[in-house]
Amino acid sequence: MSHNPSPSPPGAPDHGVAVILAAGRSTRMRSRIPKPLHPLCGLPLTRHVINSCRDAGFARVIVVVGFEAEAVRQGLGADVEYAVQKQPLGTGDAARSAAPHIAGYSGPVAVLAGDVPLLSASTLRALRDQHVASGAALTLLTAILDDATGYGRIVRDAEGRVAMIVEEKDATDSERLIREWNPSIYCFDGHAMLAGLKRLRSDNAQRELYLTDVVGLMVRDGARVDALRVSDADETLGVNSRVDLAQVTGILRRRVLTGLMLEGVTVVDAASTYVDATVKVGADTVLEPGAILLGSTTIGEECQIGPNTRIRDSRIGDRCTIAYSQITESKLASGVRVGPFAHLRPGTEVDQGARIGDFVELKNTRLGAGASASHLAYLGDSDIGAGANIGAGAVTCNYDGARKHRTQIGDGAFVGSNATLVAPVVVGGGAYVAAGSTITADVPADALAIARSHAAIKEGWAARRRRDQEA
Ligand code: UD1
Ligand code: CA
Repeated sequence: MSHNPSPSPPGAPDHGVAVILAAGRSTRMRSRIPKPLHPLCGLPLTRHVINSCRDAGFARVIVVVGFEAEAVRQGLGADVEYAVQKQPLGTGDAARSAAPHIAGYSGPVAVLAGDVPLLSASTLRALRDQHVASGAALTLLTAILDDATGYGRIVRDAEGRVAMIVEEKDATDSERLIREWNPSIYCFDGHAMLAGLKRLRSDNAQRELYLTDVVGLMVRDGARVDALRVSDADETLGVNSRVDLAQVTGILRRRVLTGLMLEGVTVVDAASTYVDATVKVGADTVLEPGAILLGSTTIGEECQIGPNTRIRDSRIGDRCTIAYSQITESKLASGVRVGPFAHLRPGTEVDQGARIGDFVELKNTRLGAGASASHLAYLGDSDIGAGANIGAGAVTCNYDGARKHRTQIGDGAFVGSNATLVAPVVVGGGAYVAAGSTITADVPADALAIARSHAAIKEGWAARRRRDQEA
């Protein structure tokens, strides 16, 4: 048997290493937020690139950070390796910063910009597979645009082979007419890449080390450089400004909705429905116009969400209907009805079959199974039992001006309209609180609490007054 020095078992495919360049200053975003962290459909921009690399099977992902390096690391997560570029001296210098991570590695090394979030795993896989099969030193992804202004152009020789990449600022007039451009997505042979990077010089219009110059250097040395033309040009869109960010967001949003529809979700009006790439929605759920589902939200099956409803970081069970409402960091069991015009704030938990009607606000509150708060109530820092009924205008006074206190309402309790429960306070199971009462002491189970002044009835008073006024 022959000796195999590689760490992977004999015959196992080497899926390679991916290097993502994300150290630039991104001045064109005009933002305090570093570009890799700008949110795009629920994930930081560069996280989309990382996920595509992972989905394409790259075992190691190295992100080159520089500008706001610590924030970018925090924002992108600890499941990738980081290399630091000390100064933004160009894409070639950024790639050099990752060199220690790939020293001695001879498998395929993909190098990508961190601002190309729509690149699919399948395109990345196709690029790597072609590269490995051909044995080229470098395989480039290229794309065709009618107007490639601003981008590096692919210069080919008389036989149509890639000769070099020329940057817009260094290009001649005739080179500027080339429509084939460089989206900055490459697959290198590891050794050839490191050798090429060592030879870069900054004798160009921007006084930078261009990663793109490696192409010409390799070709002049007789190494094989191939290209793969991408079929869907959207995949190569880079985000340099907020205008680009909006365009990319629109495309990704459509993709997410299409994916949901193919999984059995009805989207009544895709143009007004916004769902983050991180959200899960069950089959036969209907998303009405104006449904906005964000963050780590999960929606069950057969729900009706919307119209005009925004749900963030929440879990919604099956068969819930939620209309014209806002829900944040909350958990709803199955068969819950919410809205119209309800506000469920963080820490709300609603059990099966409960009902939350119009102008009801809940915060850090548990509403038991089958309980109902149908209109005009504020329930904060409360535990409300199963089957309890909360009348219109009921309010838990949870804040004394300095501290928050809890209200407990037992199973099957009835809280009348406009009752005011001054926390901390307990209303026992099955108890009644009379309408209009202000409750400042605990109410035992099955008791009636009534705290309101008696009405004085003056017979005939109104009629007498009218007579006096007429006289
Ligand atoms: C680069 C390419 C250009 C290509 C274009 C596609 C070069 C020289 N040019 O130009 O051919 O058409 O992308 O969008 O490569 N970065 C660093 N450190 C640096 C500079 C950049 O990490 O010192 C990172 C950036 O964060 C970004 C990526 O590299 O993610 C590309 O940099 P950018 O400045 O956008 O390059 P372009 O000028 O657009
Ligand atoms: Ca760019």
